[in-house]
Amino acid sequence: MNLELVEQAAAWRGRLESCRAKGQQVGLVPTMGALHGGHMSLIRRAASECDVVTLTDYVNPLQFGAGEDLAGYPRDLERDCRLAGEAGAAIVFAPIPQEMWPQPPATTVSVAGELTDVLEGSSRPGHFAGVTTIVAKLFSLAGPCVAYFGEKDYQQLAVVRRMVEDLSMPVEIVVCPTVRDTDGLAMSSRNAYLTAAEREAAPHLFYALLAGKRAVEDEGIDEPALVEKAMAESLAGQPAFTLDYAAVAEPATLRTPDRVTSEVRLLMAARIGRARLIDNIAATPPPANPD
Ligand code: PAJ
Repeated sequence: MNLELVEQAAAWRGRLESCRAKGQQVGLVPTMGALHGGHMSLIRRAASECDVVTLTDYVNPLQFGAGEDLAGYPRDLERDCRLAGEAGAAIVFAPIPQEMWPQPPATTVSVAGELTDVLEGSSRPGHFAGVTTIVAKLFSLAGPCVAYFGEKDYQQLAVVRRMVEDLSMPVEIVVCPTVRDTDGLAMSSRNAYLTAAEREAAPHLFYALLAGKRAVEDEGIDEPALVEKAMAESLAGQPAFTLDYAAVAEPATLRTPDRVTSEVRLLMAARIGRARLIDNIAATPPPANPD
């Protein structure tokens, strides 16, 4: 497939407008590049559902905190373009920061409240405002489209959904399941930071989530704190990891439920070497005994 690389915001907007004028539905896959199987699954899904797929490839400085990995974040645009094309994208928008922000932005789009106060929001202050500001800008440039997001970044997905609802953005959000390596590790651009030994230990983050899932589904534990303890204890056996959080949350609000009586989301974040990894899965308690 012939892949078009667009670096100018106005050109990208015009290109997508002309697609819609021809009656084509536009699929949008926002990324920070360093493409892996997770990104590829989003592009493939978009290509199967839309007439034209555009990927955005932009490492967004606004969503990185001081001391985070902005400078070292992996970048390889040539490889990204090749992979995006193979997966079915037609247009890659890869602006330089000066093109994205000709002047430093004075406007921030942020979702306030409990969705952004907890978990990633409390560990990475300002992170979600950086995400929603750039995603709002990308949506504004792209115009009406279907946008594909991964469940891997579960809280990001919830926050972006809320922004789209609150601001009536003409964008339909489609959720795609987390793609994992064969040993269970969720694919992530940040896995590139792991040494061989760390890479070997890394799937234990997923195994800790599975320990929480077993506590809910097989052991019938319905106290969130005990499920969280099962997850934390499972990871504690891995000295390479330092736990940031292990949480049980209601799927839509991310609130901690009083009891686990319906499907919940289990979410974890932990540091290993230079990397900070996040992952999440669903857990559904057994049906209550009717008595
Ligand atoms: P990035 O981390 O590059 O992820 C881009 C998209 O790919 C996100 O929707 C993310 O959830 C999805 N993704 C990442 N790993 C995945 C996996 N293993 N399986 C399925 N989907 C996966 O998320 C961002 O970039 C940025 O915050 C962005 C939204 C682009 C704003 O800058």
